[in-house]
Amino acid sequence: MSLGGWLGDRFADLRWWWDGWDRWDESLMNRRAFWAVLGTVGLVIALLIALVVLHQLIRTVVNEVVLRPLKTMQSVLRSTGPQNLGQRVPTAGAPDQLTDLTLTINDMLDRVALSYEGQRRFAANASHELRTPLAVQRALVEVTMVTEEDNPAVDRLGRELLLVNESSEALIEGLLVLAESDRGVSGAIPVRMDELADSVLDRYTDLAARHEVSLRRALQESIVPGDPLLLERMLGNLVHNAIKYNRTGGWVEVAVTSNGVTVHNTGREILAHQVAPLFEPFRRLVADRTSQREGAGLGLSIVRSITAAHHGTVDARPGQDGGLHVEIGLPAS
Ligand SMILES: Nc1ncnc2c1ncn2[C@@H]1O[C@H](COP(=O)(O)OP(=O)(O)OP(=O)(O)O)[C@@H](O)[C@H]1O
Ligand SMILES: [Mg+2]
Repeated sequence: MSLGGWLGDRFADLRWWWDGWDRWDESLMNRRAFWAVLGTVGLVIALLIALVVLHQLIRTVVNEVVLRPLKTMQSVLRSTGPQNLGQRVPTAGAPDQLTDLTLTINDMLDRVALSYEGQRRFAANASHELRTPLAVQRALVEVTMVTEEDNPAVDRLGRELLLVNESSEALIEGLLVLAESDRGVSGAIPVRMDELADSVLDRYTDLAARHEVSLRRALQESIVPGDPLLLERMLGNLVHNAIKYNRTGGWVEVAVTSNGVTVHNTGREILAHQVAPLFEPFRRLVADRTSQREGAGLGLSIVRSITAAHHGTVDARPGQDGGLHVEIGLPAS
């Protein structure tokens, strides 16, 4: 190879080195750009993760510190009724700002409970006080009827007075039961609802026969924690109504399941909008308050109050064949 050729080759090598160096430089630049982009993307992702974590953290703090005490407050207020006016919103664990609100609400509940208890005690005492003069009146009428048994006018008057006396005593007794059940149940015991319904139906067999109404029973074993006397009263009121407001040849069906009790009867047609008011005291389908021969209008209010005292629910609607369909939901034990 000539010298010129050899030098030419060396220059070519040098060019190659320079080109290589340029390529190397370019790839370095690319790699730097790549790392810069990767770093930025990583940073953005890390920021996003940090934001999500922060969001969760804030949510947890807000839930625990602010919302939890508010939710407790809400559940206490939602479940507060005549039967448990003694319960209060707990103040422990709430932030200072909420403690003030809680104390104010508890103060208000104190005043409501005091006023409600005053009214309830007044009704109970008044009813109690009226019992004695009514019993004395009845005794006097009965004695007069016996001593004047030959006098038809006295006999007629005596019978009328005894009927008025009887309905007044039933009214007083109803008001006492209402005041009693409004206080709630203290010392609940397991009650076999099927057995209770069976004995109530037995008790009303004669009345049903007199009204020519047949009694049907579908009783499954069911145990409810409660006051047996109040629960018996509740069943008694429902069955009595179902027979009393029935039609000749009609029927009454009492079903007990683990969900509660259903009393369904035939009778005269009731419109859907007429049903709810019947559960208010002194409300009757035939709005005649002066004639109390049929009843005082307290039976269904007592049913509602006793059910509430047992943390149950009342659902009533017109029956398919007239009459009423009443479903009492009771929490089983
Ligand atoms: N099972 C039923 N079928 C048809 N109507 C009913 C039934 N139960 C109640 N009613 C209607 O609802 C009204 C209110 O019933 P509730 O038991 O409260 O009072 P009452 O039976 O009139 O009097 P009390 O029960 O105090 O002796 C009744 O007067 C009656 O018109
Ligand atoms: Mg009744």
